[in-house]
Amino acid sequence: MSPSMIAPVVEEENKKYQKGVKHLCDNGVTKVPTKYIWPVHDRPIFTKSDKLIKPKQNLKLPLIDLAELLGPNRPHVLQTIAEACETYGFFQVVNHGMEGDVSRNMIEVCKRFFELPYEERSKYMSSDMSAPVRYGTSFNQIKDNVFCWRDFLKLYAHPLPDYLPYWPSSPSDFRSLAATYAKDTKEMFEIMVKAIIESLEIDGGDEAVEELEEGSQLMVVNCYPPCPEPELTLGMPPHSDYGFLTLLLQDDVEGLQILYRDEWVTVDPIPGSFVVNVGDHLEIFSNGRYKSVLHRVLVNSTKPRISVASLHSFPLTSVVKPSSKLVNELNPPQYMDTDFATFLQYVSSREPKWKNFLESRKIHYIR
Ligand code: OGA
Ligand code: NI
Repeated sequence: MSPSMIAPVVEEENKKYQKGVKHLCDNGVTKVPTKYIWPVHDRPIFTKSDKLIKPKQNLKLPLIDLAELLGPNRPHVLQTIAEACETYGFFQVVNHGMEGDVSRNMIEVCKRFFELPYEERSKYMSSDMSAPVRYGTSFNQIKDNVFCWRDFLKLYAHPLPDYLPYWPSSPSDFRSLAATYAKDTKEMFEIMVKAIIESLEIDGGDEAVEELEEGSQLMVVNCYPPCPEPELTLGMPPHSDYGFLTLLLQDDVEGLQILYRDEWVTVDPIPGSFVVNVGDHLEIFSNGRYKSVLHRVLVNSTKPRISVASLHSFPLTSVVKPSSKLVNELNPPQYMDTDFATFLQYVSSREPKWKNFLESRKIHYIR
């Protein structure tokens, strides 16, 4: 075939992949198409330094008991939070007060959303990064050279009354269940944020807390259908989260890995718990003390997996910068002031890989 004849074929293929992995699976895919095959060194069983991961080397993240945080043991729990944010950038939260039904209903209604016919789901497809609701596939389906094995639904959630009318109206109970979940996660975030600011020992941190309480909330529902050849692809490529703090709810299927001491380690899901991680904005705000750590998602050949990541941060119009309480002559700011528009411009112009947005905001002092 001449090159001029190949191009339309490739274009036709690409169009098919724009419909997402759920659509692909519903049409009986038995092999991973080339579009989803990652270069050998990026594939699941290898660490960043090319060492083979031993199976079942799961990581037990530090556990934070939210009931204990609110009791007399608070100083001790704050210490554990600080160490977790410095060492792993991640911790798990139990006893968080969210009713079991609220999280179970959320996972279940999201499952039903992804089971709707493609035509219904695709009503929410949009290439506008700031659309209040956005259905899509891969990471950035316009820019990604290699696709990942994931479809998503992104919902802006705060202030809720502004966004709720745009959320999917089908399944018919989606809005009410997802709204309850969004409100409860927001409350949990508010408790977490007070603790985080306190753990940074910032005098007069109330201002930051107030700004964050009025801030942005983006809920990302991830759907990872079973994959016939999970060793060739990824559910999500290595990335750090844009935002201050992410609260992640997963079903009982494992898949999340974090980069810890240069190795990819799997996070053991604890039923009913939340995985909380430091985002780029918290790394900036803490002037690099707390780490926004790289993580990725593996898929498997038998079980579908659903997760809901709730990304919280300052209002979309805010400028994010190292806290003035944490910088001085001896500790100069390590990051440039940054805003949401700069981020959008950055991600729309290239493949958002690794931590390169955060890297681009670092200040390099010449000594
Ligand atoms: C995310 C994310 C992890 C998961 O949505 O940013 O990292 O387990 N999700 O789905
Ligand atoms: Ni993430």
